[in-house]
Amino acid sequence: MFRVCITDFLAAPATLESDLLKGLATVDCLLAHHPSELLGRTDEADALIVFHETSVTSEVIARLNRCKAIVRGGVGYDNIDLEAAGARGIRVCNVPDYGVDEVADHALMLMLACSRGLVRTERSLIHSLRPWDHHAVKPVPRLVGKTMGIIGLGRIGAATALRARGLRMNVIAYDPHLRPGLDKVFGVPQVSLDTLLAQSDVVSVHTPLTPETRHIINARTLGRMKPTAILVNTARGAVVDTHALAEALATGRIAGAGIDVLPQEPPDESEPLIRLWRQRDPVVNLIVTPHTAFFSEEGCVEMRTKAAEEVARILRGEAPRNCVNPQFLNPQSLR
Ligand code: NAI
Repeated sequence: MFRVCITDFLAAPATLESDLLKGLATVDCLLAHHPSELLGRTDEADALIVFHETSVTSEVIARLNRCKAIVRGGVGYDNIDLEAAGARGIRVCNVPDYGVDEVADHALMLMLACSRGLVRTERSLIHSLRPWDHHAVKPVPRLVGKTMGIIGLGRIGAATALRARGLRMNVIAYDPHLRPGLDKVFGVPQVSLDTLLAQSDVVSVHTPLTPETRHIINARTLGRMKPTAILVNTARGAVVDTHALAEALATGRIAGAGIDVLPQEPPDESEPLIRLWRQRDPVVNLIVTPHTAFFSEEGCVEMRTKAAEEVARILRGEAPRNCVNPQFLNPQSLR
């Protein structure tokens, strides 16, 4: 019998995973919040299922004596050292398709809430019931005909683009790694990053976190945006320099931001966006959600099911559905 460790996020009993892996593997839930909590507990695991509350570092990977696969129950895999796993012949896989609609819905929700002044108005009216009219919400631009700029036209970026077009917005995109022609399939013209920033009324980020995308939104790129523009980030916290964004919001350099992800989660008191958000200044148009864009009850079941099925395939010696570290896999040490 194999042993599968669920490193974080899920408390025992993980009935869904245990039922799916019945007869093949036992399942342990480790509820870790830091990689140090994995040392000595995952050493003899045959596979790991990892969510987003801990990282799997090279130190953890160096101690995995028999692990065949690290499966990320989710999309972004920046919390797993792909290269260290590959060098030891361990496949890293993800579940790329469980929450595309949820994240796109969330991005649209953040855009609409910022643009229609939802939170700003609520914040001010809850204290004083006047003015009980459109003066409480001004300024509110008309959204039809405005431009949404998508950075990263992958699964979620494209789903967001299609929704924005349903609102009769124009959509443009910047994605230097897009398969040629896909922009035509979606009917979304590709432009340079600077053009996108200069032309967009809403900029929505949907890239993975990589060395290239870390702080892609920074003081310089924020400076290229329209002062009336809104930034939406449902990708990863570190794609935005949050010091620069807090400054841009506080000084009115841009008009608003809807943020689902922060560089450190949970954030601490010193996070500049949290400090600004907590001031509850009705003039600052900032909405923060706690990395919930992916979540729906149905999506969560799909994510857990697909992660456990990927583990089962690999433990049975079958080909994985979505390996994300083939470039680092050492065929000699493949397990
Ligand atoms: P995907 O892999 O389908 O699309 C990502 C796109 O970004 C690709 O088209 C890629 O070419 C593009 N890209 C890569 N580097 C870029 C760069 N330097 N500039 C512009 N574009 C670049 O991934 P998917 O499914 O659309 O997810 C995107 C990200 O959303 C994930 O990597 C994850 O970090 C985040 N995410 C957040 C969730 C949440 O709950 N907030 C839930 C799910 C995903």
